[in-house]
Amino acid sequence: MLSLHKVCVRYGGLSALTDVSLEVGEGEFVTVIGPNGAGKTTLMKAISGVVPLAGGRIMLSGTDLSKVPAQKRPHLGLAHVPENRQVFGGLSVLENLALGTTSLADPARREANIEYVLDLFPILRERTTQLAGTLSGGQQQMLAIGRGLASSPKVLLLDEPSMGLAPSIVDMIFERIARIHRETGLTVVLVEQRAIEALELCTRAYVLTTGRVVASGAGRDLMRNEEVSRAYLGA
Ligand SMILES: Nc1ncnc2c1ncn2[C@@H]1O[C@H](COP(=O)(O)OP(=O)(O)OP(=O)(O)O)[C@@H](O)[C@H]1O
Ligand SMILES: [Mg+2]
Repeated sequence: MLSLHKVCVRYGGLSALTDVSLEVGEGEFVTVIGPNGAGKTTLMKAISGVVPLAGGRIMLSGTDLSKVPAQKRPHLGLAHVPENRQVFGGLSVLENLALGTTSLADPARREANIEYVLDLFPILRERTTQLAGTLSGGQQQMLAIGRGLASSPKVLLLDEPSMGLAPSIVDMIFERIARIHRETGLTVVLVEQRAIEALELCTRAYVLTTGRVVASGAGRDLMRNEEVSRAYLGA
């Protein structure tokens, strides 16, 4: 459903991604792990169109994304939950969620999606009128995921939802991501530095190091991969 073929991204003279190829099947939960600066965020931005490709190709359900500008990609079913949340701080929780639904024509669908998010994260239901900028970090992460989900995406791109959050909140967020995948059957691409948890959640994973895919396979197999465990799992 989503396929990257030899994708290259450069920032000036720096190669952030080099010949990155990966495949994500419909309904799959794929995770990309890698250390700081590996190019994980760049990969997400390349898929959502925030950064241009210096080479290679990205296809989504048979459409070559190079022909689709970033602002049109949500209409193809791509939802990108960016690093550091980036909720609209001056808008309420409900207004943020409503913004996630603007690509949907059917008002009943919009409402059902917002209800689903509020069921998933009951703390947000208690705070629908609160300004998003005054939410805690964990609540903002829930809102950012919720806003992405509210658009009825086919593919949900999650960029390090664990960043800067306490371990108990991270566990809860990961549990909800697994639940979203289980209940909605949508395709999930999660990039994470928290390798162990991410490998446990996913069906398949890729390991990214300095802009290159250095390993891939089933999450559980990668956990047993010696090179991966030495580099990422502290074993
Ligand atoms: N706008 C930019 N201009 C120049 N270099 C950039 C830019 N954005 C990222 N880079 C560089 O590209 C490389 C990959 O960065 P990226 O943010 O994709 O890594 P990451 O894997 O998401 O890291 P982290 O785990 O810290 O979020 C890094 O060396 C970074 O310094
Ligand atoms: Mg990043």
